[in-house]
Amino acid sequence: AIRKINAREILDSRGNPTVEVDVYTDRGFGRAGVPSGASTGSHEALELRDGDSTRFNGKGVLKAVENVGKISQAVLGMDVRKQREIDMLMLDMDGTENKASLGANAILGVSMAVARAAADSLNVPLYRYLGGSNAFSLPVPTMNVLNGGKHAGNDLAIQEFMIQPVGAETFKEAIQMGAETYHALGKYLKESYGESSTNVGYEGGYAPKMDKTIEALDALMIAIERAGYTDDEIKIGLDAAASEFFDGENYKIDGEVMTPEELTTYYVELVNSYPILSIEDPFHEESFEDFENLTGELWETIIVGDDLFVTNPDRIAKGIACGAANGLLLKVNQIGTLSEAIDAATLATRNGFSLFVSHRSAETEDTTIADLSVALGADMIKTGAPARGERTAKYNQLLRIEEELGSAAEYIRL
Ligand code: PGA
Ligand code: ZN
Repeated sequence: AIRKINAREILDSRGNPTVEVDVYTDRGFGRAGVPSGASTGSHEALELRDGDSTRFNGKGVLKAVENVGKISQAVLGMDVRKQREIDMLMLDMDGTENKASLGANAILGVSMAVARAAADSLNVPLYRYLGGSNAFSLPVPTMNVLNGGKHAGNDLAIQEFMIQPVGAETFKEAIQMGAETYHALGKYLKESYGESSTNVGYEGGYAPKMDKTIEALDALMIAIERAGYTDDEIKIGLDAAASEFFDGENYKIDGEVMTPEELTTYYVELVNSYPILSIEDPFHEESFEDFENLTGELWETIIVGDDLFVTNPDRIAKGIACGAANGLLLKVNQIGTLSEAIDAATLATRNGFSLFVSHRSAETEDTTIADLSVALGADMIKTGAPARGERTAKYNQLLRIEEELGSAAEYIRL
């Protein structure tokens, strides 16, 4: 049974406050930290901030911390294994569509810490507790090595340029391939763009002064080759986060203004010229139709919905119905409870979608998403560059899980 719950303000990787929750049971303990986005979707569950300008520029989360206190009153004494019951009770207490009264940050902190405390109380690893007897596969790490958009101070419209070592035999090998390519990229950027080009963006990827998509893609190709890999072994993933360069009608990219039709053609050209395996949020967050057209056009490419779906089963169902996208980006804090996130994943994968479990641009040292990716049998985990502690915390946890699974571990085949 749950005996005690504590919450506090801690710092995230952007230096802003976030919620950390501790859950104590008779036999175990669980702690979880809540992440935070920058290029957030407008349909995400609400992140409750104090708005008190005298503290942390208004970004304090003391109200959310206080709300964990209220939640704690309701769940004390409950069986910590009753994850869904606890999550649903919090939804009832909140009573709003988007978790605006308690705050998704308060709710998620409790939800994740409860799962961790349950696993600890049962003395099983979190991936096994959440995933049961089928949790043996390790996802492809999709590593964000070059940053643009809202995550960097350069003029690249596309937010994320990722490398995907699909040709690795093991997760461990995939991480090595990623790290070697990351360093080859750093060396190339330094040679060609000067010392400051290896400064990094929010997710640890380099943020060189560039303004053209193909310039970034060419740099990735050079890095992959210099690291000794082929474009069969390492694929490229893009996150356009296109809501951020949409002006209400057209898209501002690469010094041009493109209509949705022109942007579609542009993506098709990119896919024909580079080993691009996935494109996330190619259009703004309401453009189900443009997603549908591109998904139809690029049926061999994974078109991933992030801001489009916001990990929300209702929006995912809409996407499934009209064939917008064939991949789901799963961010636990977009929806606010572990149970709803698992429902979103199940809905998507049952309908043939690829599953990408994802971090946020501001993270903590929390590694819950690493275990969750194994529990859900995810195709990919997206958790930034193979550098910076809040990113490597997740990759390193997956290295430990793979080691623990031993010969039962399987690196996912896409
Ligand atoms: P965010 O970016 O965490 O800043 O929203 C990540 C993403 O768009 O995938
Ligand atoms: Zn995204």
